[in-house]
Amino acid sequence: MADKKTYYISTPIYYPSDKLHIGHSYTTVAADCMARYKRLKGYDVMFLTGTDEHGLKIEKKADAKGVTPKKYVDDIVAGIKDLWSIMDISYDKFIRTTDDYHVKAVQKIFKELYDKGEIYKSYYEGYYCTPCESFWTKTQLKDGCRCPDCGAETQLAKEDCYFFRLSKYSKILIDYFNEHPDFISPASRKNEMIVNFLEKGLEDLCVSRSTFKWGIPVTFDEGHVVYVWVDALSNYITALGYGSDDTSLYDKFWPCDLHLVGKEIVRFHTIIWPAILMALGLPLPKRVYGHGWLLLNGDKMSKSKGNVVDPVVLVNKYSSDAIRYYLLREVPFGSDGSFTPESLLNRINADLANDLGNLVSRTVSMQIKYFGGVCPAPAERKAEPLDDEIIGLFSELKTNVETQMDALQFPLALTELWKCISRLNKYIDETAPWALAKNEEDKPRLAQVLYVLCEGIRIAGALLGPFMPRTPERIFEQLGIAGNDGLTNWESAGTWGLYPEGTVCKKGDPLFPRLDVQKELEDLERIKLEAAK
Ligand code: MSP
Repeated sequence: MADKKTYYISTPIYYPSDKLHIGHSYTTVAADCMARYKRLKGYDVMFLTGTDEHGLKIEKKADAKGVTPKKYVDDIVAGIKDLWSIMDISYDKFIRTTDDYHVKAVQKIFKELYDKGEIYKSYYEGYYCTPCESFWTKTQLKDGCRCPDCGAETQLAKEDCYFFRLSKYSKILIDYFNEHPDFISPASRKNEMIVNFLEKGLEDLCVSRSTFKWGIPVTFDEGHVVYVWVDALSNYITALGYGSDDTSLYDKFWPCDLHLVGKEIVRFHTIIWPAILMALGLPLPKRVYGHGWLLLNGDKMSKSKGNVVDPVVLVNKYSSDAIRYYLLREVPFGSDGSFTPESLLNRINADLANDLGNLVSRTVSMQIKYFGGVCPAPAERKAEPLDDEIIGLFSELKTNVETQMDALQFPLALTELWKCISRLNKYIDETAPWALAKNEEDKPRLAQVLYVLCEGIRIAGALLGPFMPRTPERIFEQLGIAGNDGLTNWESAGTWGLYPEGTVCKKGDPLFPRLDVQKELEDLERIKLEAAK
């Protein structure tokens, strides 16, 4: 048998400087949705996430707490893994930059770059932003002293350091971007990179620090640690065994299909990372997608601004599937959008409890009430334009969802699904099965209506898996087809009419209980105030 097609997707590796917030969950849920989609489509997937554990920021945090940096990050990383577990994040590998194999591989990479003359020793004088672990020149600063990215005050740093010859890549990268139009998405981010950085000309990049210790030591110059972004970006290849004795995963999965990142770190992924890879003589990732931010009260969520929402609280209260749905649905992917408790509760009530939940419970209840739950043998189907319209919509649904998924348009993929789900609800009102049930001669029509409903729900259920991993199984239980792969897998959603006669529906709990919005808003406010104490 031919080898399966491979798909490699990564999230940024997160700083374990604090507990993660819902903004971090946003990237990870999107990447997970894509990874699940590709697996369902038959790809051999490598989904990588992890933590970026070195750097001055972490060292300072640990100092303030009076613990070693390693102890500090160990505790936070345990919490991050718990978070991904309750959010059903199906990563294949979790890399920590403190992992021994990563440390050794980064040391090798650094030495190789030095041996090739891509890194040289000099001294650095400039401004360092600790929250972004980023270097700036005086002219780039905002208000004379602040980081142009995050606005934090920078510190003047003057020290011996190693430089990477980034300056020679300005023109090479412009050409590369133009020859590979899909390398950076959305397209607007490519223009930002060209206009704001490459056309202005890149400067060589300081890639070691000697004023603090918490980093990967440069093997050939004691006292220097590798710049945290070089350490962090390398994770995408070291996680696959690059630089170790076993490179089988690297050989299989590199180059990466998609680095999914927030827009503020597109610069690192599309300028510094490609330049390092070129310097090493390695292929570049196929695509970097810079998505927008989840805003709270109009501002990017961040712990330092104190405007964060804890995903653990939300998941425990409303279920992982509901939070995943909200994150994937609410904000056009690529743009910024606001998180509000009101929009979350509204999505849960309107889309999940009403549209989806009611559709399933009404259908199952009617099948039970009118046919003892058993799907009747199909009668000779009378050509009904209304049914044909529904069948037409559902027959195209899989392709429409795939088109949006392939363009990373998670919200639009869900819009396609909900168009069909809402259409089925309207179909119930139009066909009024309760009226058909009153006359014996309408029984064949009633059976046909319920068939259309069950079959539509089956198809929608089969396509919901990447977004909401738990809900499809609960739907299939109620439809009586749980565990039947041929009726529930992704492929099966492409064919109308598979729901078998004789299948027995079962009443289940509501998929998403309706929430009392006022009460929930008060609850969330109280939780927020308690957390701030
Ligand atoms: N450690 C670096 C990344 C290194 S990758 C080689 C880093 N870490 S971070 O913890 O600050 O995480 C940044 C990423 O978290 C963003 O790029 C984005 O993917 C996600 N988000 C953090 N806050 C976010 C929002 N408010 N909204 C959406 N995504 C957000 O940068």
